[in-house]
Amino acid sequence: MGKTCVITGASRGIGRAIAISLSDREDITNFILISRSEAGLQETASFMHPGKNVQAYALDLTDYTAVQDLIQSVGERYGTIDMLINVAGYANPKSLLETSIDDWEKTYSINVHSIFNITKETVKWMKKTGGQILNVASTAGSSARPGWLAYASSKAAIISMSQTLSEELSEYGILVYCISPGRCATELRKVLAPDEDPSTIMQPEHVGEVVKQLLSEDGVCLDGQNIVVRKQVTKRPVKQVTKQTS
Ligand SMILES: NC(=O)c1ccc[n+]([C@@H]2O[C@H](COP(=O)([O-])OP(=O)(O)OC[C@H]3O[C@@H](n4cnc5c(N)ncnc54)[C@H](OP(=O)(O)O)[C@@H]3O)[C@@H](O)[C@H]2O)c1
Repeated sequence: MGKTCVITGASRGIGRAIAISLSDREDITNFILISRSEAGLQETASFMHPGKNVQAYALDLTDYTAVQDLIQSVGERYGTIDMLINVAGYANPKSLLETSIDDWEKTYSINVHSIFNITKETVKWMKKTGGQILNVASTAGSSARPGWLAYASSKAAIISMSQTLSEELSEYGILVYCISPGRCATELRKVLAPDEDPSTIMQPEHVGEVVKQLLSEDGVCLDGQNIVVRKQVTKRPVKQVTKQTS
């Protein structure tokens, strides 16, 4: 049987681009796509390589029990989970004095706690066979971002979590990857930089191609590190990769 790959945040943006680019891989048969938007997930599935078993689950990742139940049913159905790609994220850029406790908790629920939850449930299956986990952090997690306190610090937690889990899970043959994209033309980036021209920055498809390479045999020595994926801002539109996804 082919591999089973779970991708969160797959309804648009970087998660969609990763799902599309990984669907070119012959050895991955089953894709489990998770986000809240059923329509977004279905649209992603329509761009993926035909012939794959793509299952879309419209779930809020902060519904921890529902996620635990889903991962349990995926493990029972396919016997293991080979790949987990944690992409879903949330940003509401505010300074310290503007940040409410509710928004602080929301940021950490989506960006940190939900990753802890789904990773723990997945590893219960993955440890039997080994596998790969890839977390999407941010360049905001490793340098100062005044005005983005909750988002930036939550991404720092993901960088740290990835490095710790890389060592902790190596005994099971599980490789843990962490990428930190720079500015990338998505809905989330519009929240962070509303006046920016999206055609001048990195596109989600560029990140999708990097992830495909990282998770291939070429990337076997790149686990356990915070890998920055960044394009310098240009004055001209950035060259598109062939697949248009959003
Ligand atoms: N774009 C950038 O410049 C940039 C830079 C560095 C890092 N990143 C990171 O890249 C990741 C992807 O972001 P993006 O830029 O592609 O943004 P995006 O287009 O806004 O996508 C965010 C994804 O997260 C999902 N999501 C958000 N909250 C969720 C929840 N509670 N439950 C389930 N799914 C949820 C969204 O799906 P639904 O709305 O359908 O639930 C969507 O699929 C994030 O972790 C972000 O922090 C982005």
